[in-house]
Amino acid sequence: MTRRKRAIICYLSYSGNTEEVAQLIEARLTAEEIEVEMYEIGIDPPVNLDNYDFIFLGTFTWDHGSTPDEMKDFVLEVGYKPKNIAVFGSGDTQFGGDELFCRAVDRLAKFYESEVPPLKVEQSPRGSQEVNVNTWLEGVLFDVAYIA
Ligand SMILES: Cc1cc2nc3c(=O)[nH]c(=O)nc-3n(C[C@H](O)[C@H](O)[C@H](O)COP(=O)(O)O)c2cc1C
Repeated sequence: MTRRKRAIICYLSYSGNTEEVAQLIEARLTAEEIEVEMYEIGIDPPVNLDNYDFIFLGTFTWDHGSTPDEMKDFVLEVGYKPKNIAVFGSGDTQFGGDELFCRAVDRLAKFYESEVPPLKVEQSPRGSQEVNVNTWLEGVLFDVAYIA
């Protein structure tokens, strides 16, 4: 019998938008029969990312395009660059326009040399942006299956 694929969704969220994106990803992966673990950065104990077929990393952007400290700490804690990371996050163009929008997401994707383009959501993903989450996720699942 083949083992079910396993995914972990590691996310940092203060006011819930990034968490909502994480939940949409969780629901979709579960529907695809993938085992999913949710991991709250800054709260849950250290985790070994080697154990997962898919690693999703989510963050918001803070303070003139910067990456939140908890996310930086998590990156240090992980200590290496897993290959199978897909980065997502939420931001708000009101804080610096397109240039600073979801900058932490771009930075993380670049740092991890992610094979898939990052997903950026304006505030809450509920409503019209939900379709973007699903389209992005299909691409991630296809790419990872293709790479594997
Ligand atoms: C003080 C402050 C600074 C922010 N700076 C940025 C920014 O530079 N770029 C951006 O895209 N969003 C920025 N945001 C917006 C948040 O990233 C956005 O509201 C996000 O959805 C919050 O995620 P969360 O609900 O998961 O905590 C800022 C928000 C606050 C309160």
